[in-house]
Amino acid sequence: MSSSASLEIVVGVTGGIAAYKVCEVVRSLRELGHGVTVVPTANSLKFIGTATWEALSGRKVQTEIFESVEQVAHVAIGAQADLVIIAPATANFMARLVHGVADDLLTSTLLATSAPIIIFPAMHTSMWNQPATIQNVETLRSRQVTVITPSTGRLTGEDSGIGRLPDLDDILSSALALVHEKDLIGRQVLISAGGTREPLDPVRFLGNRSSGRQGFALASAARARGAEVTLVIGRTDVDPPVGVRVVRVETALEMKAAIDASKSDQDVIIMAAAVADFRPAHASEKKIKKGHALVHLDLVENPDILASLVTGRRTGQIIVGFAAETGDENGSVREHGLIKLASKGVDLLVINDVSGGLVFGSLKNGALIAAVDGEFIDIPYGSKDTLAHAVLDAIVKRIP
Ligand code: CTP
Repeated sequence: MSSSASLEIVVGVTGGIAAYKVCEVVRSLRELGHGVTVVPTANSLKFIGTATWEALSGRKVQTEIFESVEQVAHVAIGAQADLVIIAPATANFMARLVHGVADDLLTSTLLATSAPIIIFPAMHTSMWNQPATIQNVETLRSRQVTVITPSTGRLTGEDSGIGRLPDLDDILSSALALVHEKDLIGRQVLISAGGTREPLDPVRFLGNRSSGRQGFALASAARARGAEVTLVIGRTDVDPPVGVRVVRVETALEMKAAIDASKSDQDVIIMAAAVADFRPAHASEKKIKKGHALVHLDLVENPDILASLVTGRRTGQIIVGFAAETGDENGSVREHGLIKLASKGVDLLVINDVSGGLVFGSLKNGALIAAVDGEFIDIPYGSKDTLAHAVLDAIVKRIP
């Protein structure tokens, strides 16, 4: 099943306050072209009603097994499903599932389906840490149900702790990973992400606005497709995805050293990091005081990591660069990108329009993927995950 194939997805919603966040999940799955059937439990309707789910999914929504009995809905919905997502999942719901209770449409559908099931529990920390819940999660995992550990942060009340529903992008990428074709199995993929920081003194640095999110989306998409992923990360405020090897660096020189150390094993190298082109000629060991105001800042050029990868590449290695462009009086974003594609010697260049703050730090991205063999793929502004899979589709086609 490829990233672009349309899937039949069941979204089960149980009675937790985080149900409101799942509206965005349903909407995003539809935007990605998938068919979505929402099956809420009766308790969840106290948070979000059927009208919302019907509008978002474009389909009729049922909760009870004794509605439309002639359609044997639980068997039909379960049989058609390629994937079942439960979000949020309450402690009570997981307990019912463990015991095979089938007293409403959602629990009955789960017993009737052979599709992969992924569960996103969300509850107060004290409930998540209860021995009963811990054991139920273990039992579900031993039955090949994927149970995602909740995120940590502010809970519904005043307190904080583990128990939050993960962010939209994490829900989408971990759920879709379950059904993705493993077309990168046995491949080594190195991805750089985030921005480098070039120190001026112990407290100041030259940096940039990169969040690392696009590189992380590439890493989790490559892992979902079976690759062994090494992620070389500069500064970022976002947690890297699980299941990948992470190497943390600060400066462009450190990033180059980390990449050089593992580049020869890689089938694919993707430079998604925003590497500083310059660094201060001298980083002061002591904090530069106000009295010594910097009238002058001497900069020296950093090595171009991508250029050195292209020069030293081994046969068959695919090298992908990113181009952050704003366009100016000398040419459009696309024109600058195409000049860079010709000059960089990469197999693929992902050309980003970074004018107007649309990409850096944002949850979304759009780009032109330009290949040296002449193919151009326009990816409209959308999730960074969608762009990540489109870049990997273009790579997979070119791996010898
Ligand atoms: N890059 C790199 N090493 C650098 C600078 C950039 O490896 N010292 C990589 C980036 O990771 C990206 C690509 O080169 O994949 C292009 O980065 P970009 O900043 O768009 O272009 P530059 O080569 O720096 O050119 P310019 O700033 O003049 O547009």
